Amino acid sequence: GGGGVALALAIVSLGGLAGAEAITRSDFPEGFVFGAGTSAYQVEGAWNEDGKKPSIWDTFAHSGYAFDHATGDVAADQYHKYKEDVKLMHEMGLDAYRFSIAWTRLIPDGRGAVNPKGLEYYNNLIDELVSYGIQPHVTIYHFDLPQALQDEYNGLLSTRFIEDFTAYADVCFRNFGDRVKHWTTLNEPNIEPLGGYDLGNLPPRRCSAPFGKSCAGGNSTTEPYIVAHNLLLAHASAVSLYKDKYQDKQGGQIGITLLAFWYEPATQKLDDVEAATRMSDFTVGWFMHPLVYGHYPPVMKRNAGSRLPLLTPEESARVLGSFDFVGINHYGAVYVASDMGRLKQSPRDYVSDAAVKFITCKNKETFKQGGLRMQNHPAPWALNKLLDHLKHKYRNPPIVIYENGAGHEPDPSGRFVYDDDFRSHFLQAYIEATLLSIRNGSSVHGYFVWSFMDVFEVLFGYRFRFGLYGVDFGAKNRTRYARHSVRWYAGFLHGGELRP
Ligand code: NOJ
Repeated sequence: GGGGVALALAIVSLGGLAGAEAITRSDFPEGFVFGAGTSAYQVEGAWNEDGKKPSIWDTFAHSGYAFDHATGDVAADQYHKYKEDVKLMHEMGLDAYRFSIAWTRLIPDGRGAVNPKGLEYYNNLIDELVSYGIQPHVTIYHFDLPQALQDEYNGLLSTRFIEDFTAYADVCFRNFGDRVKHWTTLNEPNIEPLGGYDLGNLPPRRCSAPFGKSCAGGNSTTEPYIVAHNLLLAHASAVSLYKDKYQDKQGGQIGITLLAFWYEPATQKLDDVEAATRMSDFTVGWFMHPLVYGHYPPVMKRNAGSRLPLLTPEESARVLGSFDFVGINHYGAVYVASDMGRLKQSPRDYVSDAAVKFITCKNKETFKQGGLRMQNHPAPWALNKLLDHLKHKYRNPPIVIYENGAGHEPDPSGRFVYDDDFRSHFLQAYIEATLLSIRNGSSVHGYFVWSFMDVFEVLFGYRFRFGLYGVDFGAKNRTRYARHSVRWYAGFLHGGELRP
């Protein structure tokens, strides 16, 4: 895939840190949390059980648009196997589990009646975690918008989304906030508008230009900006609700989670350096800038002009500072080169706004193998640069690294891989880099592996595996298998030295 998807996938290889010092978890600040994560559609299955209604992801997958025509109908079947999974988390020594709530399990029509079975499931999962002393870190919205809201008012394109999302968040805070102390409003609202409203390769398949294979409408380069705007306002609205009504009583923290690559200039030529900065402003800055300064990045205003909605003074005030922490999903570096000529011909002027007409890697071979073959060679220096950038440009916000991980294709038997030492090496390099950044003044409070176990991958269905635990998706009971990385992570989490 090209464009936004390529951005999301271009994981770049460039050797790791030479670990001079053996570290243990006691080198991290008091209260630092190590965890692993998943999301509802990607693991739960039970897509229509106990009153759950379809999300836009159910519709998308059922229409055959997902990779390999895969669906999350059963996925890893966590809905039925959560007890087994929590036990595995406990054995591994996780401090925390990051998961998301399926909006249509809790409120099947998107607004209105709450489904008692949905409440029961998340209460059970949370209770199970808490009984083992594992912190639940809950994402309220992870891509799976209720289909009913899509049908009724075009979902994220309408400001009505803000109201419905806030009401849904209210149900979450009210019912789970006694035990959940770490909330994320939205997962990756800075990439969702690209897949869903620009490229059209993800639900609801709206495209900004008529090159999409299966475009379900759209054709407007303004839509991604509107969608992001509504997401930003929905986030701010849920945060102010939490702060007004719940935070004093419940004592939790609330934030937002952004996809955050490090954008490295392909050369030190001024054009490339500027293009890399622009790319960062158009992705990370799209949300960070309003959150920290109350308005969109100046370069976005310049390049997108009137297509970028304005934040009114009240909106700006509400958005400003609306987080206790920022979650980042970090998978590596993307090399950026400016190529204005090619940009001008691009029908996707959303991408051309960023003036990144050409995204490449120094390692050409790596790039050719892109797509399915995400790179597993760590580039920990990129995390250090990213954290430094967040510290300087956005006033050193408290950070939780909510996703970091390495994936591979299933082994030739089509099932799972035990021998994933590349993964332990990868994760180790990033954990070391995290400590280095903390020592350099970044305010990082947690590190989560993506993913706890194999999941339905957003872009690749079951053809790409990120799990510490493997899942046999061919087996009716979705057997879990401990990869070598489980033992590796457990050793560290139980107090051992970080070593391959
Ligand atoms: C981004 C998303 O949050 C998650 O859903 C996805 O599976 C991983 N990163 C890996 O692509």
